[in-house]
Amino acid sequence: MLVLNGPNLGRLGLREPAVYGSTTHAELAEDLRELGSSLGLEVEVRQTDAEHEMLAWLHDAADDGVPVVLNPAAWSHTSVALRDACAMLTAPLVEVHLSNIHAREAFRHHSHVSAVATGVVAGLGPGGYRAALRWLAEATGTTPA
Ligand code: DQA
Repeated sequence: MLVLNGPNLGRLGLREPAVYGSTTHAELAEDLRELGSSLGLEVEVRQTDAEHEMLAWLHDAADDGVPVVLNPAAWSHTSVALRDACAMLTAPLVEVHLSNIHAREAFRHHSHVSAVATGVVAGLGPGGYRAALRWLAEATGTTPA
């Protein structure tokens, strides 16, 4: 399955550590690949600052029936195109935010993606991605519920 991270998340560890923590994107990716293999999942982690690239990854995931964990980052709040691409997915989609977007500025409270996601996790830091992978392992039958 895919873990897809949107804009500015490649700068985790440097970026506003009081909000997003000190874990780098490389460390997050390694942690999720390791957890995935313990759950019997092959996890690929990608990050992009280019919206067209994210849309292409989602189109391919839709065509291939691949489950997705997505942190849409700032595009959550701005992009109808991203929402429309997510709506085409054929396997479960879990939206993850490191921070609790509902406890932050008003412009972060609404995510265009949430209405087409299977579920949403916010505010648990990197643990939110781990929760999403554990749930997907159950939902896709690689581990018992
Ligand atoms: C974020 C929250 C968004 O509001 C913000 O633009 C991000 C990261 C999070 O993971 O908490 O870039 O998605």
